Amino acid sequence: MGQMIPDLAATSRATTTKIKPNGTSNGINTAGKKCQHDPTFTQKVIAATGPNANPRLAQIFPSLVRHLHDFAREVNLTVGEWSAAVDFLNDCGKMSSDRRNETQLLCDILGLESLVDEITSKQLATSTTQTPSAILGPFYRSDAPFLPNGTSIVQGLSPSVSWYEKALEDSAFLSGKVLSTDGKPIENAVVDVWHTAPNGLYEQQDSDQPEMNFRGRFRTDQQGRYALYALRPVPYPIPDDGPAGRLLGLLDRHPNRPGHIHFIVSAEGHRALTTQLYDSRDRWVDDDAVFAVKDELVVRFEPREGDPGARWELGYDFILGRC
Ligand code: BEZ
Ligand code: FE
Repeated sequence: MGQMIPDLAATSRATTTKIKPNGTSNGINTAGKKCQHDPTFTQKVIAATGPNANPRLAQIFPSLVRHLHDFAREVNLTVGEWSAAVDFLNDCGKMSSDRRNETQLLCDILGLESLVDEITSKQLATSTTQTPSAILGPFYRSDAPFLPNGTSIVQGLSPSVSWYEKALEDSAFLSGKVLSTDGKPIENAVVDVWHTAPNGLYEQQDSDQPEMNFRGRFRTDQQGRYALYALRPVPYPIPDDGPAGRLLGLLDRHPNRPGHIHFIVSAEGHRALTTQLYDSRDRWVDDDAVFAVKDELVVRFEPREGDPGARWELGYDFILGRC
């Protein structure tokens, strides 16, 4: 990443000799038709980049332009369609704020956040035994309270809340270790955890929930152990009342994510791990609206005996790579 390109002009010259005139193969588009377009056009746009361009941008922009132009030629994009896409992107921007990121949501339903997460984690991985990462999602809050090991992230549980029975049914004890890739336990690692209420809403989406409900940070003990009470997660629809939801509708797609618990696990000398665990009971595990599920992150909760605080339990060890 961030490779320096000291001589952009040289890069442009080199690229000129490599690419086909209009980004297609010998001027034939994928439909097998001879191209009617100016065969020098794409290269003209690429070559407009100046010698003082940002180096990383200068490296990746030619590829972006080639793919974009190829796409437009391949599908014979019309002005009307392009204009609708511009309006759509503008709508995503207008709907975005510090409480909602519609453009990120668009990337999620395109699978782009998951793909970029995969590319980045593979690039930074120092071992194949590390726990796989998964996307952060838009509902993280960085300032969840630190709680003692063995306590609960469930607040406001009383018979008056609509999801009371479901919360009792799904009460769960989560425990495990945070380990280095050499198998050594990591003391003082931070396990930052969050999930939705049984109504499928994160606390910031739901004015009926207490501040920081279903969120907490736990520190591992000398043996690298963490433990907490939470709930088995439920599926929920990603926000689909904006442009991203409109696109899902046009594509005849559903907005559902399988039930999952989010984690950020961090420790000194190790790369922080952002990930999610998916409950195997969930039907959307094989059909996630944002394509984030990885097999290694699908977990099975087991019945828990003799604990009035939990009907289910899950043991899961997180393995962190070194920096
Ligand atoms: C989430 O897991 O919280 C999430 C991820 C992508 C889009 C919306 C929500
Ligand atoms: Fe989530």
